[in-house]
Amino acid sequence: MAGTGVFSEILDGDVYKYYHDGEWKKSSSGKTVAIVNPTTRKTQYKVQACTQEEVNKVMESAKSAQKAWAKTPLWKRAELLHKAAAILKEHKAPIAECLIKEIAKPAKDSVTEVVRSGDLVSYTAEEGVRILGEGKFLVSDSFPGNERTKYCLTSKIPLGVVLAIPPFNYPVNLAVSKIGPALIAGNSLVLKPPTQGAVSCLHMVHCFHLAGFPKGLINCVTGKGSEIGDFLTMHPGANCISFTGGDTGISISKKAAMIPLQMELGGKDACIVLEDADLDLVAANIIKGGFSYSGQRCTAIKVVLVMESVADSLVEKVKAKVAKLRVGPPEDDCDITPVVTESSANFIEGLVMDAKEKGATFCQKYKREGNLIWPVLLDNVRPDMRIAWEEPFGPILPVIRINSVEEGIHHCNASNFGLQGCVFTKDINKAVLISDAMETGTVQINSAPARGPDHFPFQGLKDSGIGSQGITNSINMMTKVKTTVINLPCPSYTMGSSGSSIRSRI
Ligand code: G3H
Repeated sequence: MAGTGVFSEILDGDVYKYYHDGEWKKSSSGKTVAIVNPTTRKTQYKVQACTQEEVNKVMESAKSAQKAWAKTPLWKRAELLHKAAAILKEHKAPIAECLIKEIAKPAKDSVTEVVRSGDLVSYTAEEGVRILGEGKFLVSDSFPGNERTKYCLTSKIPLGVVLAIPPFNYPVNLAVSKIGPALIAGNSLVLKPPTQGAVSCLHMVHCFHLAGFPKGLINCVTGKGSEIGDFLTMHPGANCISFTGGDTGISISKKAAMIPLQMELGGKDACIVLEDADLDLVAANIIKGGFSYSGQRCTAIKVVLVMESVADSLVEKVKAKVAKLRVGPPEDDCDITPVVTESSANFIEGLVMDAKEKGATFCQKYKREGNLIWPVLLDNVRPDMRIAWEEPFGPILPVIRINSVEEGIHHCNASNFGLQGCVFTKDINKAVLISDAMETGTVQINSAPARGPDHFPFQGLKDSGIGSQGITNSINMMTKVKTTVINLPCPSYTMGSSGSSIRSRI
């Protein structure tokens, strides 16, 4: 159970502690932040409201611990990560319980998130050992005007302190996707969890604590974004920021100092359906892609662009599947569960009402109880409706009927987002041409958008992000290249020198 057994030391009364210098601590603020259960809409957990002074101390610890960590052999870093991965998986039940209570993630998906996270950490350890153990060797005579007098050795070095800010929808998985690469590359970590999801994050961090990482290497501060958010992201001690979330990321990128940024800021993933598509396959993917975790995924299908000639048939198939979705509490492993906050539910409702006023066809009756919104497929959506462009992050899916592929591509590319997209057709040549034309970081052919498997590159164009993620890319992003150049007294060509010429030069 959450907060009990090995996790009892992270709890003080009914308030979870923050993690600094290898210890669980109470904030000197004496204040707490409440985490409201999206299903009951009552306070489920409380976390410490850390102060700016505590953030300063955490940054100092991370800085000094990193110096020693960078001198720790790569195989030892990997060994500790493997240990943390095993502990994380061993404790999947209490962590999943937190995900259910904090973010209303369906029970099975909550367990999957923790197991996937353990696998991600193990894979990161293995990948790190491979790619960080290699460097480059360059010689100078390949550049015009040079003899072979310079040997250049390159290696990858850590950046220093990585500030990791994961989002509410994957507070464990999108935290470890930053923590794992940062640590294997020799960096230290300051983690700022989202409010909803903070307690899941704290349990995950305790698994790293139990694995025996050095004091100060991993730190986790909780608190109000309004008090410590900007303070953290503008802190001179941070040498890299890895952020996943909404458009807050855009303002972070404007305020952050001259440090590497990795950002994933959402999407409006389009699903383009051609006339020759397998409509049963499309319908199944629209359900999975549009409605899993109630549409609260950055990679959810957020607009269907279907050719008019097959639109009626597709809409009927999707409608039949929507009717079968189970709506209710996450504890019962329902497909559609309450959205994360009341303000999210209000925002989603605003998009629905706008579409209603402007004449969209409702395939289901709109229904809401508290944060629980029943799934709705909106047909005949037009570009003047907000839902055609905005990201609901809820179980509402618009369908726009198109008369040409170009019209679909145009709509996709007119979005300010460019995360992923998908195209359904049996013609691979058309699929590739459409993929090339879509201005998104990834295009899935004949499947719904998705970030995983977690070692695949994952990136957004335009307002969807900066840089590329996925295990290998994240490790590389959290390192810098260091070079050492050996300057020889005379040109030296392998197998090209005689002993006498060397004797005359040295
Ligand atoms: O919400 C953003 C996540 O990166 C999406 O991940 O495709 O595994 O659901 P997912």
